Amino acid sequence: MIIAQIADTHLVADSAVDPMFQARTEDLRACIADINGLDPPPDVVIHTGDVTQNGQAEEFAHAGSLLAALQAPLYVTPGNRDGREGMMQAFADEGYVSSDCSFIHYAVEDHPIRLIAVDSLSDDDAKGDFCHHRLAALDATLSEAPDRPTALFMHHPPFDVPAAPDPFAYQRREAVADLAALISRHRQMVRIFTGHMHRPWMAMVGGVAASTVPSVAVDKRYGHYAPRMAEQPVYQVHRLVAAWGFASETRLVGFGADSRCSVP
Ligand SMILES: [Fe+2]
Repeated sequence: MIIAQIADTHLVADSAVDPMFQARTEDLRACIADINGLDPPPDVVIHTGDVTQNGQAEEFAHAGSLLAALQAPLYVTPGNRDGREGMMQAFADEGYVSSDCSFIHYAVEDHPIRLIAVDSLSDDDAKGDFCHHRLAALDATLSEAPDRPTALFMHHPPFDVPAAPDPFAYQRREAVADLAALISRHRQMVRIFTGHMHRPWMAMVGGVAASTVPSVAVDKRYGHYAPRMAEQPVYQVHRLVAAWGFASETRLVGFGADSRCSVP
């Protein structure tokens, strides 16, 4: 199983309003072309949030027109920039985001690793949070299939990123402690994929490897990159290797043959 992970595209809808319209559009286009050219191709693409800059319907429409070029199925989870309602409406036709629920939560059952989308949004600012309802929903979904290896994907990383100006992405330490305790009770957990920090980072949460992906939007990226990486979008490819789980590559768009590999 191969997962391509993108995040933090921060798309805007109108070049007259935001000068980054063209650049961020091209960043995502180039990223999609690179993903479509992966050999072997990914089974699935996940977008771990901040699809849009302002959560506007026009921005989601623009995002949808670009993301439609992906050849692999796409699954999304909301970022603080997206907002929950806007994302629910924008992806309602995809069939996996339910408008009957007050948060975005679903499982993807079609692959060797079960994927669960987790809604990490808080109600009143850009930081993350988990209410009891969401943790209970996650607990219930994990309890449905205790023997199926499972990965979570969400926007806010539930661990400190010391290199960031604000290293902790959640409102409350208790929310992350509750999530870690929940994860540690479900032995089928194999990985947690996140975004939001716009730089690559890894940690352990409840005994499970958790990671962030750099932003696709080059102008929003943080951290230090080699000169030839500075102008290119970056995303990650997570390849499942039976012996030890996902092996992850932070992949530079536009240098195709450099990092192609085969999966055993
Ligand atoms: Fe974010």
